[in-house]
Amino acid sequence: MSRPSHLPDTLPGHPMITRQGATLMIESLPASELASRFGTPLYVYSRGAIELAARAYADAVRDRPVALRYALKANSNLAVLQLLARHGWGFDVVSGGELARVLEAGADAGGVVFSGVGKTDAEIAAALRAGVQCLNVESTSELQRIDRVAGELGIPAPVSLRINPDVDPRTHPYISTGLRSSKFGIAQAQARQAYAQCARLSNLRVAGIDVHIGSQITELEPYLDALDRVLDLVHDIESDGIRLHHLDLGGGLGIRYADENPPTPAQWVDALCERLQARGQGHRQILLEPGRSVVGNAGVLLCEVITLKSTLDRHFAVVDAAMNDLMRPALYEAWQRIEPAQSRDGSHALTYDVVGPVCESGDWLGRERQLDLREGDVLAILSAGAYGMAMASNYNTRPRAAEVLVDGERAQLIGERETLQDLLRREHKLQL
Ligand code: LLP
Repeated sequence: MSRPSHLPDTLPGHPMITRQGATLMIESLPASELASRFGTPLYVYSRGAIELAARAYADAVRDRPVALRYALKANSNLAVLQLLARHGWGFDVVSGGELARVLEAGADAGGVVFSGVGKTDAEIAAALRAGVQCLNVESTSELQRIDRVAGELGIPAPVSLRINPDVDPRTHPYISTGLRSSKFGIAQAQARQAYAQCARLSNLRVAGIDVHIGSQITELEPYLDALDRVLDLVHDIESDGIRLHHLDLGGGLGIRYADENPPTPAQWVDALCERLQARGQGHRQILLEPGRSVVGNAGVLLCEVITLKSTLDRHFAVVDAAMNDLMRPALYEAWQRIEPAQSRDGSHALTYDVVGPVCESGDWLGRERQLDLREGDVLAILSAGAYGMAMASNYNTRPRAAEVLVDGERAQLIGERETLQDLLRREHKLQL
């Protein structure tokens, strides 16, 4: 049975993005209207979609000893952080800059875990002064560094060691972090000794144990394998007389870009809690650090077709967004859905490579897409809420895009478009 035409079509995996006839809507606003009001390239986030994801996590952890720490590397806009802080989330930061954002958003440092494979003295000091929940530590050398900085400040440092469980998350190699060959974490075999060292360093307080195996994970097994290895270690470490207050099981839950069917937050949390129960560890305090699955499908990148050109080999749609705005296709050959803001009747459809104006062959946003286009049309690149703006650069002296949050029929500018003056201001003309 065909759908009645007055009902909007929802796009699978994108709860707040619909097509009403020819018009692509973000909540109650047409994408084309947002593009003309705020200009392109433009990141647009749906408040409703972020809150739906936040609530899905809140429901999943209700009545369970699980606390949520949003990994803001996925999308660190202050308004997004404020939304999540209002929903009671803590944060996973990986730099002094991210910590400063969390504090600027008015969130409580006591709900912040500080991850990352190389923290500077200044970052460690900032974290200790702010009073973070703990530092996730990735080497014995870093333990000594933190002990020294904590001693100098007279503030004991809560630490949790990040274990490398040597588990394959079965995702893209660039976003796999828990393999033995990766730079992350402390090897399982060296972890017990590292905890013993922690206990000897007088300015450290052991808070917990930490693991993160990768990103865009679409199966539960790798998580359960990693959890099993962590629990084996917990047993050994605690039998050495060291008490672990929490288990941080990282982030990484995938989203639907194309036809993936990742577990829901509830399925993820249920599976972890069941395994903990089965191993007699159901009482453990758990932290989770999701990023992508909170914001990924809440965002789109709008861009305008500048030029249509056909070479002897293929058809190109050159748009005003590029690899500097959205790096994922160039960096990981990532596939993200591309939808016209106003669809046409298809009579002039061609197979296009959608590319940016940057002087690199790697500057593409989508390849071999069937689209009916005219110059001046607006396109929406979906699933751009995570690792989109957060990874944007100024390559080719391109100012970074503006960011807008849509809430029903309202739209708020939450990130100004960068100006050329912004870019030039930090440089000095030759004086020597
Ligand atoms: N915790 C730690 C320690 C992490 O390294 C990460 C992501 C997360 C949590 C959050 O993972 P998520 O839930 O977002 O998957 N730029 C890549 C993704 C890099 C992920 C890095 N670490 C991409 O665009 O696919």
